[in-house]
Formats: sequence, C-alpha cells, structure tokens
Amino acid sequence: MTEDASAKKELAAIKGTKDILPEEVDAWRALESTARAIFELYGYRELRAPLFEATELFEKGTGQTSDIVVKEMYTFTDKAGRSLTLRPEYTPSVVRAIIEHRLDLRPEPMRYYYMGPMFRYDKPQKGRYRQFHQIDIEVFGEKDPTVDAEIIEMALALLGKLNVPDPETLVNSVGCRACRPAYGQALREAARAKFAELCPDCQRKVETNPLRIFDCKVEACQKAAESFPRILDYLCEECRAHFQAVLGWLDLFKIPYRVEPRLVRGLDYYTKTTFEIVSGRLGSQNALLGGGRYDDMMKDFGGPDICGIGFAMGMERVLSIADLPLEKRKFLYLAYLGHEAKKAGLELGRFFRRNGVECLIEFKDRGMKAHFGRANKLQAAWVLIVGDDELRKGRFGLKEMATGRQVEGTRDELLAVLQGR
Ligand code: HAM
Repeated sequence: MTEDASAKKELAAIKGTKDILPEEVDAWRALESTARAIFELYGYRELRAPLFEATELFEKGTGQTSDIVVKEMYTFTDKAGRSLTLRPEYTPSVVRAIIEHRLDLRPEPMRYYYMGPMFRYDKPQKGRYRQFHQIDIEVFGEKDPTVDAEIIEMALALLGKLNVPDPETLVNSVGCRACRPAYGQALREAARAKFAELCPDCQRKVETNPLRIFDCKVEACQKAAESFPRILDYLCEECRAHFQAVLGWLDLFKIPYRVEPRLVRGLDYYTKTTFEIVSGRLGSQNALLGGGRYDDMMKDFGGPDICGIGFAMGMERVLSIADLPLEKRKFLYLAYLGHEAKKAGLELGRFFRRNGVECLIEFKDRGMKAHFGRANKLQAAWVLIVGDDELRKGRFGLKEMATGRQVEGTRDELLAVLQGR
C-alpha cells in the first residue's frame, strides 16, 4: 500500500458505521417526520436520553445473558474510572429517566418516542451495522392487552405510510416469572438431550439461559430448537388469557399475523407479548422492528411497579425498502455580474430567503454563460441574473429552467412568481 492509500484507510469511517450523505438525508428526514406525525396522533411525546449510560443499566436491563451484553457493547472507562456504555438499545434509558424524574407522578400518559443512533459490536453485514439508528416507542402503565395490539397497529400504520412492501407480523408470548421457571426447566432438559449438536455458545446457554438458544443463527442449533418444547404450552392462566386477548384485538384491527412460538427475542427483559414485523425483501436480517412487554423492568430498577411495552424499528432497514414520496428541492440560483451587482445580489438573496425562497449564491466571478452552465448542472429551478442594467432599472430577469419561461419584474413581483402566487 502506498503511504497515501494507507493514510486514507486510517482516516476512513469505522467498520460498521456509515456517513449519511446529503442526497440520502431527505429520505431520513421524511422517515423521521412521518414517524413523529404518526406517533403524536397516538398521544406519544418525544423523550431524549443521553447516548451513553452507566454500564450496569444495560447489564441489569438488557440482561446479563443477552448477546448484546455478553459480547456486543461498546464499553469504556471514563477519566473518573466509571464504566460507561454507548447505548446498544433505548428501552433501559427510558425506564431510568422515568424513575429519575418521577414521570410516573405526572398526569400525562407515559407514552414516549425517540429516534437516534444505537451501538452494537456485531459482525457487520447487509442490514446490520455497529452504529445504526432506531425509532423507538415505549408505553408505561398500560396492563390492558389492547395496548399490545395498538402499538402493532401503529407500527403498521407507519410502515404503510412509508410504502414498505409486504410487512409480516409475528407474535408470541414468553410468559412471566410465574410460568417461565417450569418452561425453563423443560427447555433445559430438552437442550441437554441435544447438547452435542449445539454450538459452544449455545452449550453454555443450556445452563445459563436456555431461552437464548432460540436466538442463535447457527443452523444446527436452529434445527435442534425445532424439537424443543413450546413456551405457549407452558403459559400460566394470566399469560394465556393476555395472549388470547392480544390476538383478539389484532383480529379486531384486521391485522394478519402469525404466531411464532420460537420468537423469544434477544433481550432478557420480556414478559408476555413479544413481536416482530419482518419483511422478505430484507435478506437474512429481516426484522424491520421488534418489541414486546417488559412488566418487571421498572420494579427491578428499584422504581415503582409499573409495566412497560414498546418496540424499536431499524431505520436503515426500513429505508432500504421504503418507497418515500420525496419532493425535489426547488431553489433559485442567483448570479451576479460584477462588484456592484454582488452587493445588490446579496441584498436580494436575503430578501428572498426571508420570504422562504431557497436561494443559492456562489461567490465566484463567472460570466453569464458559466452561470447558466452551473445552474443547469445543479438543477436549479430558477436563475436570476443581477447585472448593471438590472440594477439601474430595479427590475430583474427570472428564468424558469424547466420551461425556459422568462419573467421580468421588481423583487416583489418576482417573489410572487417564486412563491407561485
Ligand atoms: P432489537 O430487536 O434488538 O430490539 O432491535 C430492534 C430493531 O433494531 C431490529 O428489528 C432491527 O430493525 C434494528 N437493529 C437491531 N440491531 C441492528 C443492527 N446491528 N444494525 C441495524 N439495525 C439493527 C430492541 O432494541 C428493543 N429495545 C426493542 C424494544 C423497545 N422492546 C421494547 N421496547
């Protein structure tokens, strides 16, 4: 490698991270504004938590046996010797914020949304990054199974607005602290019987948390898991009734779904409902979003005993298959010819911008022909030339590039044209 090439490589973006370039940003913004609009229609408000937190928050929340905590966290020690972690997910941060600010004592509903980057040290591949972005929603204090169905309905409403093709809803229940121990025992016994077929990671999980074997992507482990007992056969009365009610509400919303008994999701905190919305258009990382109920987290954090449920959507994945109606940017290219014209042009540009017209002025001495060439290349909607003649008359010529139409007028008259009045 030449010295130049190696320097370039050293300064490149870190593996698994991506720059979002200006031409991509319009789609990101459209996704963000659509999500905001939908969530606010359902009574959600934005809550912004920090990018990093105490490492224990995720160890306790996301869970000691989850892959995220075991091997995917960006953890570092700060100058005070504290162990901090770049958030791998958002849910524990929201729970912490509620406890810290006693949001539960406020009269407004505890329904929050957020969008921003998350960090996981996993092997990068299509649809899987080390810095990725989630849109996250969480609801607290709603025990009623209706809310489980309502958030799925809201997720599908958003995906519908984004023209995401063929979303498929998978649902399951992972039970609660009352029914999971018996299931865990049955699962452990079944897993012990298949011990030799499991990957070393899953062999460890047999004793620590056999539920996590279902998350493994190794084919042999997935095959072994097919013969494992189904959690749905072990649900206690309360969890069974809750699950049936969720399915009933989904039917009422006319949402097609598939019950997927192996959908235990990779995080330790779930209780009762878990769900994912997947798409066959995505490849192997096929989950557009995933979520579920976590009725014990707040209590486990030492806060009030308030249940929670939510989901997070992968923005990169959604954007890779969404069909967003993006408006082409319309802007005015303002060209000046000479020093006096520059002064007047700047003032004119200021006037147009104050009135909401996007106006580009480049500070280059160009002739008329070069200006038009440049405006063409940039696909400006209009070109306005300011020269000595125009200055003297106080009237300027505006050209609409798509049609070739030319109009002459004062700045107020031209503003009316630019604003489409
Ligand atoms: P999760 O399933 O870990 O759940 O992530 C949710 C979504 O984030 C995934 O379905 C996927 O679209 C996206 N995602 C996850 N990891 C990556 C990655 N490395 N690269 C690109 N996209 C990724 C959670 O994070 C939970 N906090 C969801 C939740 C909220 N449960 C309750 N409330």
